[in-house]
Amino acid sequence: MGPLKAVVIGAGNRGNNYSDFALDEPDRLLVVAVAEPRTRFREKFAMKFSLAPNQVYKDWKEIAALDKMADIAIITTPDQLHVAPCLAFAKGGYHILLEKPMAVSYEDCKTIFSTCESCGVILAVCHVLRYTPQARKIKELIDSGVIGEVMNIQLLEPIGAKHFAHSFVRGNWRHRGTSAFSLLTKSCHDIDLISCFMSRSKCIQVSSFGSLQHFKPANKPTGAASRCLDCFVKSKCPYSAQMYLDLVQAGHTGWPVKVLHAEPDIENITEALRVGPYGQCVYEGLNDVCDNQVVNMQFENGASVSFTMVAGTEKVCQRHVRVFGSKGELSCDFDSDHVRMFDFLSEERTKISLLEKMTCAKNSRLSGHGGADYFMMESFVKAVENKEQSLVLTGPKESLLSHYLCFMAEKSRTENKVIQLTDAPY
Ligand SMILES: NC(=O)c1ccc[n+]([C@@H]2O[C@H](COP(=O)([O-])OP(=O)(O)OC[C@H]3O[C@@H](n4cnc5c(N)ncnc54)[C@H](O)[C@@H]3O)[C@@H](O)[C@H]2O)c1
Repeated sequence: MGPLKAVVIGAGNRGNNYSDFALDEPDRLLVVAVAEPRTRFREKFAMKFSLAPNQVYKDWKEIAALDKMADIAIITTPDQLHVAPCLAFAKGGYHILLEKPMAVSYEDCKTIFSTCESCGVILAVCHVLRYTPQARKIKELIDSGVIGEVMNIQLLEPIGAKHFAHSFVRGNWRHRGTSAFSLLTKSCHDIDLISCFMSRSKCIQVSSFGSLQHFKPANKPTGAASRCLDCFVKSKCPYSAQMYLDLVQAGHTGWPVKVLHAEPDIENITEALRVGPYGQCVYEGLNDVCDNQVVNMQFENGASVSFTMVAGTEKVCQRHVRVFGSKGELSCDFDSDHVRMFDFLSEERTKISLLEKMTCAKNSRLSGHGGADYFMMESFVKAVENKEQSLVLTGPKESLLSHYLCFMAEKSRTENKVIQLTDAPY
């Protein structure tokens, strides 16, 4: 049958990441075209996948206008540019791998859902955390009944102080007007995990508080300049953009410096810091998304869930989860290789190893999110090979529900009221 063919829409960070599956497993996936407006990124991508000039485009619309040339469209454009290519390629008969968030409005999420369904194409939304060995094991243990009925879940997303400054103060996700609110752009993964763990009951009401507390002009240190390179107090600032130069000086050319330039070196990174957003003081006020937020959820079976996301943490995106049941308790740090379980009857503590599962992803180029990127891509390719949507853990149904929960939580925060989930897509 030969490998499945894929077109890649957006050859930035994520587009490159998922496409690497074709380098890992060339007998299963072949990249046959790319659309990318940024010249250097486009050229680098074309070289990496040995694409001929007639396989390389500047805009997704050029590929969508041609006869169907592949089985799969990998859509990794910026947040506000997901809907139009997704609908066009679904209507063109392509199976879709779509980056999260599906869309920045719930109405658009519903349109994506119904279009993919009516076109009969497989949709995978990149809520990669569901595919981690940690999440899979927790889900398996919950569903096995070994901890009894789930009474409460606590989930913490520690974003990481510098990571937050990079992506959500200076970077692509800093402003709702150009991206979306941070619960959707960052923590839709977490709301999706909660939705996955609690899939046996329905969330019936949600409340949320949060704010942009720290990264705003009122907190700008006395004497700080607008640009870090000109700043006299930068040595006392944990967020100084000097960090990018330090990284390049130490020989690092991957994320986050590659976000500033396709081929980072001291010269082009210095220039990016002089003129671009990544050289700006984090207290300049270019950003408006929350740097802390809590979400509380009440489920039909009486269980409650609390979620916290916060910028100011040592850990970087490595979630901590605790699941409290009627017969036992689970806990897991997503940067560890085990899930811990405590049984109330025997009072036994068990450490359940995930090492075997984690090793599968270690040989892959897709090592992001603790191997989850690999596991997700593998599931999606398998689903398309077998024409079986159910092999995708984050299909249209699951993803529509978790997006709905995000939009409702944000509604609660902005309207300062508890939201009853009467129109949930269960
Ligand atoms: N699943 C995850 O964990 C995860 C992690 C990071 C980012 N994301 C999401 O992935 C998406 C992409 O993020 P990224 O970090 O790769 O951003 P990026 O900026 O590195 O890549 C996006 C690319 O899309 C290109 N693009 C813009 N307009 C286009 C068009 N008309 N046609 C084709 N390409 C076009 C841009 O030039 C850019 O190279 C975002 O929606 C983001 O929120 C998901």
